[in-house]
Amino acid sequence: MLSDTQDFRTWRQAQQDTVERALERWVPADAPAGLGDAMRYAVLDGGKRLRPLLVLATCEAVGGHHAAALRAACAVELIHAYSLVHDDMPCMDNDVLRRGKPTVHVQFGEAQALLAGDALQALAFELLVPGDDSVGDAMSARLCRLLALAAGADGMAGGQAVDLASVGIALNQGALEAMHRRKTGALLQASVTMGAATGVVSAAAHAALVQYGASLGLAFQVVDDILDVTADSATLGKTAGKDAAADKPTFVSLLGLGEAQAYADRVLAQAHDALRQSGLAHTDTLHALADWVGRRAS
Ligand code: IPE
Ligand code: IPE
Ligand code: MG
Ligand code: MG
Ligand code: MG
Repeated sequence: MLSDTQDFRTWRQAQQDTVERALERWVPADAPAGLGDAMRYAVLDGGKRLRPLLVLATCEAVGGHHAAALRAACAVELIHAYSLVHDDMPCMDNDVLRRGKPTVHVQFGEAQALLAGDALQALAFELLVPGDDSVGDAMSARLCRLLALAAGADGMAGGQAVDLASVGIALNQGALEAMHRRKTGALLQASVTMGAATGVVSAAAHAALVQYGASLGLAFQVVDDILDVTADSATLGKTAGKDAAADKPTFVSLLGLGEAQAYADRVLAQAHDALRQSGLAHTDTLHALADWVGRRAS
């Protein structure tokens, strides 16, 4: 298994560089009235790029179409970046620090932040429908559908609505899990299924990848809840301690730190099990990404 080996770190760095260069090329500087500056500020030069890495690693595991996967990788990152811009706004989490910089609304104003998010969302789908024949129509449509389902009412946006409606409410574990699966898990799972959609896989391998994505996605938000309590703002690049201050229901508030970590470990073990059952030959990088989610410091 690659785990935290030099090979994995080298792979990660190379893919992060590729994604950065592609985003640099695709996010326009020349959108009118400073909108391009706000969009590029929101996206470039920051973040772990976990979602793009999942798309690219899954594409490799299924022997998929690399040009389509790079577009899908950037598209899901654009949706994620837009979700962060809106998540940080005063009407939502009211955060001033993101990826080690002032948030987009602090830097550019609320209206520009709202519009930058809107434009990033549209750009994500534009990337999936290139104006040339580099991605076939059927694959393009499938990628759009997967991303739309994960970003929308039954995915990220719906989960964010539940998050805001749950302030001060002690959700039970099932309800908390359902919220996390939507607000964060859906886009991470879609990163895996979009990577799979760039190639051809058996029904059994596909089901295993769906399970891997679901488990990894849920574990990721549980670890985010833990880091909000255990890490400092400088390491996180965002304000620590916000969840308790805002009275958000989290896995830490429900279970306590130790149990929340044990829960994340169990869910990540399910992600590894799913990969082992996939029958796919090249899953080392996907295993390593699941390990990375569990031990990350930010
Ligand atoms: C933060 O996501 C928001 C959540 C969905 C929990 P990441 O931790 O992936 O943020 P970046 O992209 O690395 O900044
Ligand atoms: C946000 O969850 C998930 C999104 C859909 C953006 P959080 O509100 O916990 O994310 P952070 O901690 O601000 O990054
Ligand atoms: Mg939030
Ligand atoms: Mg937040
Ligand atoms: Mg958080």
